[in-house]
Amino acid sequence: MSIVGARPQLVKLAAVAAAFPGTGHEHVIVHTGQHYDADLSDVFFDGLGIPAPDIHLGVGSGSHGVQTGAVLGALDPVMEEHRPDWVLVYGDTNSTLAGAVSAVKLHLRVAHLEAGLRSFNRRMPEEHNRVLTDHAADLLLAPTEEAMRHLAAEGLADRSVLTGDVMVDICLRIRDAVVAGRHARPVLPDGVDPGEPYLLATLHRAENTDDPARLAALVEAMAELPVPVALLAHPRLIARAQQHGIKLDTGAVRVGRPLPYAGLVAAVLGARGVVTDSGGLQKEAYLLGRPCTTLRSETEWPETLKGGWNVLADQPWDFGRDEWNAIATRTAPDEERGTPYGDGRAAERVIQVLAEHLN
Ligand code: UD1
Repeated sequence: MSIVGARPQLVKLAAVAAAFPGTGHEHVIVHTGQHYDADLSDVFFDGLGIPAPDIHLGVGSGSHGVQTGAVLGALDPVMEEHRPDWVLVYGDTNSTLAGAVSAVKLHLRVAHLEAGLRSFNRRMPEEHNRVLTDHAADLLLAPTEEAMRHLAAEGLADRSVLTGDVMVDICLRIRDAVVAGRHARPVLPDGVDPGEPYLLATLHRAENTDDPARLAALVEAMAELPVPVALLAHPRLIARAQQHGIKLDTGAVRVGRPLPYAGLVAAVLGARGVVTDSGGLQKEAYLLGRPCTTLRSETEWPETLKGGWNVLADQPWDFGRDEWNAIATRTAPDEERGTPYGDGRAAERVIQVLAEHLN
């Protein structure tokens, strides 16, 4: 039983769901409803060919406690009815933690996909969710060697297995389809010409959106860039900007809606570079060979920093304008990237490992 609810989990689910047919195992999909906007949920099911969820809990938005608690309460009868051999939780959202806690309390085996990632920033909600989920789970499916080392350092080595990253499976599959012309061109924000250089940007982390002074400074820094910045705005960003009276559509910044996955991949491929605070997009930029600037002080994906493919810019307003321009508009480094995230067949391995650990 897969428990998902937020956009990045749907990308990972796409890889896992596609690896089930022919294995003889049944796969039940539970959507918590954490993300409910069509842009953040439905387009991923349609665009990535994910089977419709078997169960939808419809919990929606709320404070951390309310949202996590609502998922937890709603999952009990679902888990009791299905009694799955494995409950699979993904990543680091409130839906992840609720799924893990619900399963362990009902004595169901729980596996954590994307285990072992750490920012070591105890103020991030995602860091609480990851650490607690890893320590609750019976089986830890780690995407990288670095994640395996973190798990070992926390005494969890004997429950950990290196599977590779399932996001690679999907990203490379969709890249090939985009390059082969099997998808329509992405809809970029008005004012961004796909034929001219542009930067692709997203900003949605609570630590960046919820402090008005920080959000205003980040938007101002992006507004000063010498090329158009296509800002694909998450609803959280729109909501916080409105609340704090911050204008997003300013200077170089052009605001558009979040894109479906194939549109996002095409938009990254068409961009000169990426500016983001998203974990997934840092890695997609890396896999697709575009330089990334990350608006945070740390990353859970340190492999992307090697050779300068990804650069951390926690306080871009502190850099001189030339320095920030140079970071955000640099070209792809020469450094080989290698395959620190695996070979694109992680989902098959995940199902195999779950089957092997049934007893
Ligand atoms: C969640 C995850 C974050 C992940 C992100 C991906 C947690 C703690 N955070 O953050 O790790 O990177 O998903 O997108 O689980 N909203 C809508 N429509 C929606 C969903 C949200 O308008 O469909 C708005 C609401 O104002 C809501 C706010 O966005 O209060 C935040 O949503 P929430 O699900 O709490 O967290 P995300 O910021 O999406």
